[in-house]
Amino acid sequence: MIANRKDDHVRFAAEQQRDLGGYNQFDDVSFVHHALAGIDRSEVSLATRFGGIEWPVPLCINAMTGGSVKTGLINRDLAIAARETGVPIATGSMSAYFKDESVADTFTVMRRENPDGFIMANVNATASVENARRAVDLLRADALQIHLNTVQETVMPEGDRSFGEWAPRIEKIVAGVDVPVIVKEVGFGLSRETLFLLHELGVRVADVSGRGGTNFARIENDRREQADYSFLEGWGQSTPACLLDAHGVGIPVMASGGVRNPLDVLRGLALGASAAGVSGLFLKTVLDGGPTALISLISLWLDQLAALMTALGARTPAGLARCDVLILGGLRQFCADRGVN
Ligand code: FNR
Repeated sequence: MIANRKDDHVRFAAEQQRDLGGYNQFDDVSFVHHALAGIDRSEVSLATRFGGIEWPVPLCINAMTGGSVKTGLINRDLAIAARETGVPIATGSMSAYFKDESVADTFTVMRRENPDGFIMANVNATASVENARRAVDLLRADALQIHLNTVQETVMPEGDRSFGEWAPRIEKIVAGVDVPVIVKEVGFGLSRETLFLLHELGVRVADVSGRGGTNFARIENDRREQADYSFLEGWGQSTPACLLDAHGVGIPVMASGGVRNPLDVLRGLALGASAAGVSGLFLKTVLDGGPTALISLISLWLDQLAALMTALGARTPAGLARCDVLILGGLRQFCADRGVN
């Protein structure tokens, strides 16, 4: 049952990528061009530090999968690409492992293929402290992601309908594991109010994972004969909107959800994110061309990121936050409505 669901998610998420790549709200962010701002490439470092985490690059392969034979093979290929490019990587939700230990291998393959890499385990907000620790131990994980997915659960007839315990549960997990905890959405975004609450709960990092890329309302609708919740496909805030909304909250944030290219990574960093994450696009790349294709794509992105930082005069990812950007269109309206300066 879980295995089928995991395979469906991969299939429908990869299909969605065909329709993505056009406009999303990242296009409402543009850099003011300063023709003499450039520095030397040798002065640029991609390394980033946030919430007790240190990464060599401000980009990761974000949470996706595991729990079935097929998704174990995908995790192997993603882990190979992470190892060869040095980017951090997350597993998908490890709930399947808590229910049936025989699927452990579909997750541990990531650590086997990438023994020295930065790996994040992933659980949902109903996980017990004991299971959160099991997930971290199984992978020798460097950080733990907790995903928030109320909209996805709502669209699933068999989905969770009890969300009231999530916040206290997160607080317990944070206190009970000895790695940094990153709380993330799955494509509907985190509001400023949610970020304040996460900060209070002791969460180290929030990954806003906003609207604009993989759409789980659509995936869950596609899995059913009757799409009862098709009206939810426009739900949530875009990733750049969430990053702007996050200003002043005081919790480090990551940009994921609809990141299409290195320019979107730069835009996310310029809006205050400490790093970016990509799921659906990297999944499609590895499904189509194996680890070799993903290694080429990530290497190109990292090279282009450094090249653009050189032209913009940003020595570090954090330095991008000092770049002049223009906020246009619907994103500008969002800022006005939410009182964001
Ligand atoms: C996901 N995502 C996800 N997130 C999570 O925290 N736990 C999970 O198990 C999954 N599973 C999953 C499966 C598949 C096939 C995809 C494509 C994605 C959500 C993911 O981490 C991310 O938040 C969203 O996909 C938005 O980013 P992109 O895809 O637009 O780059």
